[in-house]
Amino acid sequence: MKNIAVIGAGTMGNGIAHTFAQFGYKVNLIDISEDSLSKGIATITKNLDRMVAKEKISESDKSNTLENITKHTSLEEGVKNVELVVEAATENEKLKLQIFEDLEKFCDTNTILASNTSSISITKIASVTKRADKVIGMHFMNPVPIMKLVEIIRGYNTSNETTEIIMDLSKALKKVPTEVNDYPGFVANRILMPMINESIETLYNQVAGVEEIDTVMKLGMAHPMGPLQLADFIGLDVCLSILEVMYDGFKNPKYAPCPLLVNMVQAGKLGVKSGEGFYDYSESRKAEHVSAQFK
Ligand SMILES: NC(=O)c1ccc[n+]([C@@H]2O[C@H](COP(=O)([O-])OP(=O)(O)OC[C@H]3O[C@@H](n4cnc5c(N)ncnc54)[C@H](O)[C@@H]3O)[C@@H](O)[C@H]2O)c1
Repeated sequence: MKNIAVIGAGTMGNGIAHTFAQFGYKVNLIDISEDSLSKGIATITKNLDRMVAKEKISESDKSNTLENITKHTSLEEGVKNVELVVEAATENEKLKLQIFEDLEKFCDTNTILASNTSSISITKIASVTKRADKVIGMHFMNPVPIMKLVEIIRGYNTSNETTEIIMDLSKALKKVPTEVNDYPGFVANRILMPMINESIETLYNQVAGVEEIDTVMKLGMAHPMGPLQLADFIGLDVCLSILEVMYDGFKNPKYAPCPLLVNMVQAGKLGVKSGEGFYDYSESRKAEHVSAQFK
């Protein structure tokens, strides 16, 4: 495999494009928004600069990586002659089903179609194509160039051959691929989201404050970051939507999103990206201040 298309130049898409390009793959980075493409390339450049400053890569590695990436706003153009597509567009089922229907039309019949979705069923995404055996989940973690895990999700019809190719490819990116089956939340979010939801419930029930809950989990369980702060980084809207997918998928009340989470999303308090969640990011991006509503 040499030629890859990445759909979506946002948080995850630019990290995925960066990673493939750094390992010598030719990447077509596709987004409907010219602005997102420019911001995506700017982020990749900034992250490469940081790696050069830390002497993890050389100046020539940086320029080779950037040369390996080509921007596209047309899906049809961007997926021409690629062997793999990694879709990392906005987490919206209708949007992803439309993208995969289009990919079926525009891609070579042998092209493998992967999705970076956090929660949408790979089996359902595959069902709108005529190549369900070649559709797979490739769930990278944020920030992609740094995080080692790739959760590899086998849809109901994903073939052994496709799984092996994607496992090997992930290893070629110096990642640790881990194979899981396609059920709501896969493994990562099925375990992480109930913990985040329970920490919000603990706050909602006034058992302890934001800092106390995060301190217990950081110092008591050796987590690098408390669950409330992690929720802010992931995005409270994203946490809510993943919990809703699990709640609907399992029909089990244990995944019901905490009313406080629902309220905060409705109030536009989405965490780092909106400037406020459980912490206030308006003055410092370091989450030093608990949001005034919890003081
Ligand atoms: N943010 C995370 O921590 C994280 C972690 C793992 C997986 N994911 C998953 O990765 C995917 C992307 O998430 P993100 O956080 O990067 O989102 P984002 O909002 O940062 O970026 C999404 C990008 O998709 C683009 N887009 C929307 N419709 C498109 C289309 N039809 N064609 C091409 N581009 C289109 C948008 O313009 C935007 O630039 C989602 O499925 C999400 O669940 C996110």
